[in-house]
Amino acid sequence: MRTKVIEALSSTSYGSKVTVKGWVRTRRGNKNVGFIALNDGSTIKNLQIVVDFAKISEESIKDVTTGACICAIGTLTQSQGAGQSVEVQADSIEVYGTADDTYPLQKKGHTMEYLRQIAHLRPRTNTFGAVLRLRHNMAYAIHTFFHNKGYYYFHTPLITASDCEGAGQMFQVTTLDLNRIAKGEGKEVDYSKDFFGKPTSLTVSGQLEGELGATALGAIYTFGPTFRAENSNTPRHLAEFWMIEPEIAFMDKDELMDLEEEFVKFCVKWALDNCYDDLEFLNQMIDKGLIERLKAVADTQFMRLPYTEGIKILEDAVKNGKKFEYPVYWGCDLASEHERYLVEEHFRRPVIMTDYPKEIKAFYMKQNADGKTVQGTDVLFPQIGEIIGGSVREESYDKLLARIEELHIPMKDMTWYLDTRKYGSCPHAGFGLGFERLMLFVTGMQNIRDVIPFPRTPNNAEF
Ligand code: 4AD
Ligand code: MG
Repeated sequence: MRTKVIEALSSTSYGSKVTVKGWVRTRRGNKNVGFIALNDGSTIKNLQIVVDFAKISEESIKDVTTGACICAIGTLTQSQGAGQSVEVQADSIEVYGTADDTYPLQKKGHTMEYLRQIAHLRPRTNTFGAVLRLRHNMAYAIHTFFHNKGYYYFHTPLITASDCEGAGQMFQVTTLDLNRIAKGEGKEVDYSKDFFGKPTSLTVSGQLEGELGATALGAIYTFGPTFRAENSNTPRHLAEFWMIEPEIAFMDKDELMDLEEEFVKFCVKWALDNCYDDLEFLNQMIDKGLIERLKAVADTQFMRLPYTEGIKILEDAVKNGKKFEYPVYWGCDLASEHERYLVEEHFRRPVIMTDYPKEIKAFYMKQNADGKTVQGTDVLFPQIGEIIGGSVREESYDKLLARIEELHIPMKDMTWYLDTRKYGSCPHAGFGLGFERLMLFVTGMQNIRDVIPFPRTPNNAEF
């Protein structure tokens, strides 16, 4: 039976026979003995296989090179060497798959840009192994958090005819022959002939359908891919990213902020409690402040700050000589430099910003009595900027309809959504966490392309 590397490394059954399988990270040695560093993905750590050339001929393991896949059978022994407690003294080695000297991961220290070009192989590096194990653990933490609270995992469609955020950043879905349409330029496209009989796109958010779930089941969350055709070539934007969207009936703004804060702290603590080996590696190799920052966020109370007060702080900073690239004034959409000033320099902790001008937020947010602001609750994080976008939802049919008309949102597509307000409307609230933004935070990685296995960005849909 196969023993995983993680199990072998924590075993104290010295003298027992083990079978281990995995990929060769490095091979070194001299003419008497060979040392193979074996990794099978179960941990960041490698298992050392010791080959005594008196027992196994050097010639018979000539194919045991970096990148090759092998099966080793041998005796688990306490290691004399530094850096590991356990090793395997090999009795036999079988090569499952060779890797010749064209294997692109020969040497260590490749740039992230280079590794993106070989994203099909980069999971075999230490860094991406750590990131991908953390990614799994974060997904598991998220399901655990909501399940323990009694929220139901609710599946919302990926193909949709509505634009939740109203930003027009949708990828169209069609089975029409685009070549023929192009030839008939100038003519209107006849969508009745398209697959769904009307224009459809990939969803930018599951929220609207999530609200249908919450106003029946009480509390739901979604966790799925979302798509945005925004041409933002930044280290924080993907065209395809995963979003977690809880939606809760009878929740008000304070409870929503409590939930946002409790949720991200739970995820960060989960990483510290369950992924320490990987975090230690990332702390050492990628970001020396990582573990300290994670602990700080897990223990700090987030600052809750109305937008209007935030603008005052930023305006004062400008008066005192702070230079921003983009202007600050009441009504402006905060740029990431503004968010980061508040979080990293002014308050030095995460900020939940509330009550934004309605003009810069989506149509569904609950309107305040001042007629100017809405009950948004975004969470701003060090290094990342916006990690969560959330709000209380407008539950009044009339106010919601007025806003929809004001913004010229096509009404015929929205009747099913308005029915939540027409029949048994209730106060409710929810938020969306960008999964890869959370991953950036917990891994210390600098670019969002490096926390998802196969990133989709403008001009890039490889693999
Ligand atoms: O702020 P957003 O656009 O909010 C919504 O979509 C709401 N419907 C959520 C809700 O209330 N249910 O997006 C939510 C979060 C952002 O805070 C950010 O973390 C992430 O999604 N996000 C992106 N992540 C990666 N790449 C992009 N292009 C992203 N756009 C948004
Ligand atoms: Mg947002």
